[in-house]
Amino acid sequence: MNWNEDKSIKMNLDRTGKSDKTGTTNKDIKYDDILLNGNAGTTNKNSDIKPNVKYNDILSKLDKYKDENIVPMHMPGAKRNKELIELYMGDMGNPYEKDITEINGFDNMHNAETIIKDAFDEAAELYGADESWYLVNGSTAGNMSAICGVTHKNDVVIMARNCHISVYNAVILNELNPVYIYPEYDEEYGYYKGITLKEIKFIVDKYSSDHDRNDIKAVILTSPTYEGNVSDIKSIAEYLHQYNIPLIVDEAHGAHFNFSESFPQSAVKSGADVVINSVHKTLPSLTQTAIIHINYGIVDVERIRRYWNIYQSTSPSYILMSSIARSLSIVKNDGDKLFAEYVDKLTILRNGLSELKHIRLINTDDISKLVLGYKDAKWLYDTLFYKYKIQLEMSSIKYVIAMTSIFDSQEYYDRFLAALKEIDEELDNRFLAALKEIDEELDNRFLAALKEIDEEIDESISKYDREDILNSKVDKDLDNRFNSIHNGEADNRLNYSSINNQDNGNKINVADFRDEQALTIAQAFNRRDLSGCDEIQMNNEKIYGKISGESVYVYPPGIPILCPGEVITRKIIAILEAAGEAGLEVVGVKEGALLCLR
Ligand SMILES: Cc1ncc(COP(=O)(O)O)c(C=O)c1O
Repeated sequence: MNWNEDKSIKMNLDRTGKSDKTGTTNKDIKYDDILLNGNAGTTNKNSDIKPNVKYNDILSKLDKYKDENIVPMHMPGAKRNKELIELYMGDMGNPYEKDITEINGFDNMHNAETIIKDAFDEAAELYGADESWYLVNGSTAGNMSAICGVTHKNDVVIMARNCHISVYNAVILNELNPVYIYPEYDEEYGYYKGITLKEIKFIVDKYSSDHDRNDIKAVILTSPTYEGNVSDIKSIAEYLHQYNIPLIVDEAHGAHFNFSESFPQSAVKSGADVVINSVHKTLPSLTQTAIIHINYGIVDVERIRRYWNIYQSTSPSYILMSSIARSLSIVKNDGDKLFAEYVDKLTILRNGLSELKHIRLINTDDISKLVLGYKDAKWLYDTLFYKYKIQLEMSSIKYVIAMTSIFDSQEYYDRFLAALKEIDEELDNRFLAALKEIDEELDNRFLAALKEIDEEIDESISKYDREDILNSKVDKDLDNRFNSIHNGEADNRLNYSSINNQDNGNKINVADFRDEQALTIAQAFNRRDLSGCDEIQMNNEKIYGKISGESVYVYPPGIPILCPGEVITRKIIAILEAAGEAGLEVVGVKEGALLCLR
């Protein structure tokens, strides 16, 4: 073929790479057209050559992990389910064989006109949005694009204090002035509830009483929460729209809402202006994949697009984009069947879990989230992993979260329920044994006391009256006994305190804080740049009243307990210590110290 022939062939191709002679139009393109069919499973011709590669530890660890048969009750939503992955993604093959950049015929995500544009349009149609764009940097990039796209430097936004750290990062970037809503939380377990219209009205009115309401440039909510509680998006959106205030909903955990009546209504369909979904969290898509949806009316779409361009890699992965397309294709074509089966399985599992005596299934709005209350949650999380090979999504101080998806197998649910039943039974045995022991002890003491009284009466030396003995001496002995059972006889942490979920003296939970903002986050960072920070140990009395120079949060869920510019109080330190003691990962604490502004 000479150069001219080659050129003429190229000119006959439209940008999708298909000959215009075939009559194929963009409308005919299906989701999966981003994915080319390659030679899945091609064997390595040089397989006798053993490469001496040093930097492959992540991959070899992943490989080993894959073979461990660990039940994945966590994201991503593809759940390492071999059977369904083979069925639905078997043709994807080795990603290296298909990894490309913006070459001829493959469109450009940042200036999408053909196959990628079609994929965006199909996503918008599926979710009922006016526009949808893929995100290859997760919902993190979506939150940042949305917030920066609807605000300007120094603007005021109303945001829920339980927003993800990416929302706070956008606040930092645009030097915004946030007015916080502290959502209600469950006092016993410490998880956040959804936000009501009443709370939004209250905060808008409160702000407007001494400021101009028009200064509020956005309201930003996380719905659902990590635990699956949703806010009243429909009525909140309607209310805000009267004042032209856009509603941004971080619906990272709700990409599946759209596909079954068993889940809450999606924020897109409830009328929010910008909605962000992590496809990888609850649908079978690769990690990092997400979508941002826009409903026309209030927001400036082009400004959001500008930031969406800024926060995405200039080399977006076609493998990740194919993965989004494939997961949407699965739910579009087979979603009814997959979701019906999933909800049936899930309902049976939830019924089983609700019968546990010592571990409590906490009901939240999204049934896909299995939130299990137990006072020593990290112990439960660790026991499930180390003893039963079940990996959960996260542990808080008093509850754990297991994530489910349409790609879960029945085997996962059977193992999960069987393990929890066994743990619960063991807790029950220990609980009953402890009760029996205490009961016997009470009996013995009581009989001994009666005998003593009897003897004393017999001897007619009535030094004590009966009440004295019962109230002081006997009670004290029994108290000591309780305490020794409680503190001293811990067997593998299954002690009396941990088996009795109700007897929970520890009132601390990670949601129980109301910070005092001394500086905005942007002011705090400026001061940190100018004057620096001191590292002060959390057990040093001098720390109280200092202003934090850093965000401090438990990960997951990544909700800051302390933001830069907030005052460090005894309550905050108590929460951080409790989280640390519970074995949670606290980001922002460095060897027991916090960064405090000078
Ligand atoms: C509520 C919420 N929003 C946003 C994110 C960020 O999502 P992504 O991991 O897709 O960047 C997370 C991550 O866990 C999250 O929990």
